[in-house]
Amino acid sequence: MTKICCIGAGYVGGPTMAIIALKCPEIQVAVVDISAPRINAWNSEQLPIYEPGLDNVVKQCRGKNLFFSNDVEKHVCEADIVFVSVNTPTKTQGLGAGKAADLTYWESAARMIADVSKSSKIVVEKSTVPVKTAEAIERILTHNSKGISFQILSNPEFLAEGTAIEDLLKPDRVLIGGRETPEGNKAVKALKDVYAHWVPEDRILCANLWSAELSKLAANAFLAQRISSVNAMSALCEATGADVTEVSHAVGKDTRIGPKFLNASVGFGGSCFQKDILNLVYICECNGLPEVAHYWKQVIIMNDYQKNRFVNRVVSSMFNTVANKKIAILGFAFKKDTGDTRETPAIDVCNGLLGDKAQLSIYDPQVSESQIQKDLSMQKFDWDHPAHLQPSGPTDLKQVSVVRDAYAATKDAHAVCILTEWDEFKSLDYQKIYDNMQKPAFIFDGRNVIDVEKSRKMGFVVYSIGKQL
Ligand code: NAD
Ligand code: UGA
Repeated sequence: MTKICCIGAGYVGGPTMAIIALKCPEIQVAVVDISAPRINAWNSEQLPIYEPGLDNVVKQCRGKNLFFSNDVEKHVCEADIVFVSVNTPTKTQGLGAGKAADLTYWESAARMIADVSKSSKIVVEKSTVPVKTAEAIERILTHNSKGISFQILSNPEFLAEGTAIEDLLKPDRVLIGGRETPEGNKAVKALKDVYAHWVPEDRILCANLWSAELSKLAANAFLAQRISSVNAMSALCEATGADVTEVSHAVGKDTRIGPKFLNASVGFGGSCFQKDILNLVYICECNGLPEVAHYWKQVIIMNDYQKNRFVNRVVSSMFNTVANKKIAILGFAFKKDTGDTRETPAIDVCNGLLGDKAQLSIYDPQVSESQIQKDLSMQKFDWDHPAHLQPSGPTDLKQVSVVRDAYAATKDAHAVCILTEWDEFKSLDYQKIYDNMQKPAFIFDGRNVIDVEKSRKMGFVVYSIGKQL
């Protein structure tokens, strides 16, 4: 029986391994992590992440050929294939702070693999890493190993949160990079055979190691660039009377451009777009390509601009002050169908409003009160000026309350800000919300969720990204 071990039981490691276990009943899959609470949650009824369809898959396989464990060394030692899916955040200190990827977790995982291995293994980079990381990992593994052979593969993950199960079951492509040697080819074939259990062969792409590593950064940069492009247009739409939804629709009809990923928003969030672009920028700078670095950096600058623009719009519309005004925040997660708040635009928007002394009443169907309080009390790391930590968000968390539903959040509020496109926000009773708010009642729709015309007829003052004011 082939044994797979995945180091890192997070948003990628958990769902990815669950699908491998589901589709490959003859493979034994162990997902290991240093975090005991995380592993306990994977072994409980309440999984540590919210992802539609995930519960069902885990329930089918857990205890049969899918195991979650803190015994990292044992499972690594026994495995034929070791995926490494640990976090690779942006460095906050030292050389490259604010841009470069922090490979501390990756390196410690690699050293542990070298230390505990007693047989040859295929080591798969699942985490998103800087191009050429495989070379560094190879050096660590071969330096520490006692004559054991390791083949390093790059197999970046392209799933998006909220649709992870769908994305894993029907991926646009699976990408595998390996050394162009007989041993490298053999390792690529072994991993290909795993995916071939459910992914059509023409969707499994093979490349050299560096192309595979760089393709992941490139894909995220292209995706984020589309959002910054449409968000830049949204500002121009507001200034000219064009409607960004109509512009996106018309632009996306061009088959060379395509309709997906052209929704204007309050800004993109999530743990990866910003970090991966910063990582790309750093790699360009290190390779003496300042113009290329500058080009990609602009995608993030535009995203920061969009979030600031939203806050300024709220404050300026409400007679230039939100001090002591109750503002309802609908949605805190970085997108719908996830409870993840990493780099969510809601943090910046809330902190901006709190800086102007607003009273916030926050509702999100999947984010806990403790997570929101934690996010809003953390110091913000300024990627562009990494030496200075920004002053923390609210000094007084009494300005923030977290409530159970949208009606409680909006009761007696002066304004509503929609920051996540949860489906339930489309079907709220906005007449009831209007009736229970202070007047004039403002709605600032950062996700183009509401019907602008209808809401204006009810009496709301409406601001919707990229729409006529
Ligand atoms: P995560 O923070 O949810 O999970 C990482 C896990 O690794 C954590 O549970 C942590 O405790 C564990 N870990 C860290 N060091 C360890 C070690 N030495 N031994 C054992 N466990 C260790 O991160 P994630 O969102 O799953 O992302 C993982 C990687 O995948 C990142 O490189 C990310 O860029 C990439 N990625 C993420 C997504 C996504 O949607 N979140 C999609 C594609 C790629
Ligand atoms: C993104 C990519 O889509 C995945 O392919 C990739 O694997 C992943 O990053 C990663 O490397 O972590 P994810 O961040 O989970 O996935 O979610 P997306 O659907 O890409 O959304 C990212 C952000 O962009 C969200 O805040 C979303 O609301 C925003 N967005 C997305 C827009 O503002 N407009 C759009 O048209 C699309």
